[in-house]
Amino acid sequence: MGAGIAQVAARAGFAVVMHDVAEEFLARGMKAINASLQRDVDKQRLNPDEKGTIIERIKATTDTEGLRDAFIVVEAATEDLAVKTEIFKSLDKVVRPDAILASNTSSISITKLGGVTQRPDRVIGMHFMNPVPVMNLVEVIRGAATSDRTYEEVRSLTERLGKIPLECRDSPGFVSNRVLMPMINEAVFALYEGVASRESIDGIMKLGMNHPMGPLALADFIGLDVCLAIMNVLHDGFGDSKYRPCPLLKRYVDAGWLGRKSGRGFYEY
Ligand code: 3HC
Repeated sequence: MGAGIAQVAARAGFAVVMHDVAEEFLARGMKAINASLQRDVDKQRLNPDEKGTIIERIKATTDTEGLRDAFIVVEAATEDLAVKTEIFKSLDKVVRPDAILASNTSSISITKLGGVTQRPDRVIGMHFMNPVPVMNLVEVIRGAATSDRTYEEVRSLTERLGKIPLECRDSPGFVSNRVLMPMINEAVFALYEGVASRESIDGIMKLGMNHPMGPLALADFIGLDVCLAIMNVLHDGFGDSKYRPCPLLKRYVDAGWLGRKSGRGFYEY
């Protein structure tokens, strides 16, 4: 998702620094950006020169020093509180004091991330949807200490990126995943209990509800590890058994069947 966010920002005209921990991840990100922009070139919605200019706006680096002058950093690391906490602590030291630190987290508390920095008023959630270049929404999440100024700046930035910001407060799963993930988890339960085949479950939801993808295919697309992490956040956060992750989802994650990214999830790729 980080690559998608970098792509959207560069396309909107911003100079972007894309940071990751290893060169191979940066190379993979640049490859994804190239492929995504090429779709638009092929469809004659972008000329090849513009594509080149967009790519030139993105500087890929493994050195956090490259982020020093950013006015905003959008973190899009693994959905793990310990990892994100460490990143926010170190960003807080590197990035200039008035810069905004945003997280693309799908469910981790923005208030907690703000609390490990010296600038909780400048910490906010910017939750993009996958695939980032295609999806119009950014769920903008205000932590307990997020200031109105920070919210306003992020709202206006989101619009400049060509996306629609919708505001919500910090609560487990925010709105998007509080509603989406229990539906996906329930579809996994239906499969687990043998109520229907994967094709039937997905077909019923696609054809019956006009969803672009069935819930099992969508889970594969999002990543089963991400789905499980979000269900755990909902379960822990609300302490309500209705959010318990389906044992089949856990089993797939244990087996390393994480969906599209690993070549196998509920479907084979
Ligand atoms: N980059 C750029 N464009 C892309 C793209 C990408 N990575 N992937 C797809 N597209 C474009 C295609 O070029 C095409 O454009 P066009 O219609 O204007 O010509 C359009 O998207 C549709 O793509 P395809 O025809 O290849 O395939 P589909 O019609 O099957 O659409 C999909 C693919 C857009 C992924 C669609 O299936 C979809 O909307 N699925 C649901 C996605 C969704 O629910 N996302 C939210 C997940 S939840 C989340 O992200 C939150 C997190 O916290 C878990």
